[in-house]
Amino acid sequence: MNVSFLDLKVKDKKFRQKILNKINKILVNGKILNGIEQKIFEKKISKFLNSKYAVGVSSGSSALYLALKASNIGKGDEVITTPFTWIITSHAISSLGAKPVFVDVDKNFNLDPTKIEQAINKKTKAIVPMHVAGKLCSMKEISNIAKKYKLKIIEDAAQSICSSYKGKKSGYYSDACAFSFNPMKVLNSYGEAGVVTTNNRKIYNKLLLLRHAGTVRYKNSFNINNSNDISLNHKIDTIHASILIEKLKFLNQVLKQREKISRYYTNNLKNIMQTQNLETKETHGRYLFLARFKNRDKLRSFLTRKGIETKVFYSPLVSDARIYKNSKKYDLKNAKKILTEIVALPFHESLNFKQIKYVVKEIKKFYEKK
Ligand SMILES: Cc1ncc(COP(=O)(O)O)c(C=O)c1O
Repeated sequence: MNVSFLDLKVKDKKFRQKILNKINKILVNGKILNGIEQKIFEKKISKFLNSKYAVGVSSGSSALYLALKASNIGKGDEVITTPFTWIITSHAISSLGAKPVFVDVDKNFNLDPTKIEQAINKKTKAIVPMHVAGKLCSMKEISNIAKKYKLKIIEDAAQSICSSYKGKKSGYYSDACAFSFNPMKVLNSYGEAGVVTTNNRKIYNKLLLLRHAGTVRYKNSFNINNSNDISLNHKIDTIHASILIEKLKFLNQVLKQREKISRYYTNNLKNIMQTQNLETKETHGRYLFLARFKNRDKLRSFLTRKGIETKVFYSPLVSDARIYKNSKKYDLKNAKKILTEIVALPFHESLNFKQIKYVVKEIKKFYEKK
């Protein structure tokens, strides 16, 4: 049996038709730029995330870059972050002339709050946590440190649209929060899109300028003299906003399906693997299913032979990427150790029960042989 890691095909014919109808409507009315769907989506997503403001942008990368820029992170600033993430987390910081400073992760693969203070100095301006696979970082602890040293928090929430802890979602503890809606994400568009949320009016106003070349649209023209910010075009487009409005309606359903798969993996493999711990009153965002396994490389080769596709996230550590070789980093022993053991198991809504059962059976078989 073949079990793919990811499947982006839109299999539901009715749903596919619904999306095509939405696109068709926009093509017919011609409001392809700055259509009303942009504002509707922003309203709906800020309600969903309990944030005061939301600014739709063209990708998760743009979202993080703009969230940092609108929070005045720039040249010479140091920003404390995790090496255990997709490289965009650091590239967004570096693109502004700031420097990522890497500290270690905890047993949940997230930025370890107990390792942050050692890295703080006069140049430190912000902390950028990333919620790995949808498991929230220890935000209360990170927030206490940020308050003590007057640092900003900008969240890379690309993977945590559905995460919450005691009802608090991504964005609650931060100055600005960046989400991705690329096709792989739990809330996804069929192309590239993202959003920045904030509860800070100043940051919101700056984001509006920054997402469109430092200008503000007034009636049908742009004023290029109302800001000193140099920026490019980062706007979300109407078609993606309209797709996301539709997808938002099904988000709980999608999460439930992902939750079911996670529960099956967790219940059946708990004696074999070590995965992320959940607190009571915590919802995991279920972007990926990541766990540590002994004899990882042999397990992966065995599963490949059985037709089961797995991945290793995030290899290499960002701090080991050639471009960050000389950057400031502290002892990263947990991240290094985790990276030798971690596996991302097949995880998407199209997986059927037969396939999940097969994955579990083959993993068990591998360890029985040992
Ligand atoms: C942790 C993290 N940050 C940032 C991004 C960038 O998002 P996008 O692909 O929408 O630009 C991603 C996307 O996979 C991500 O996983």
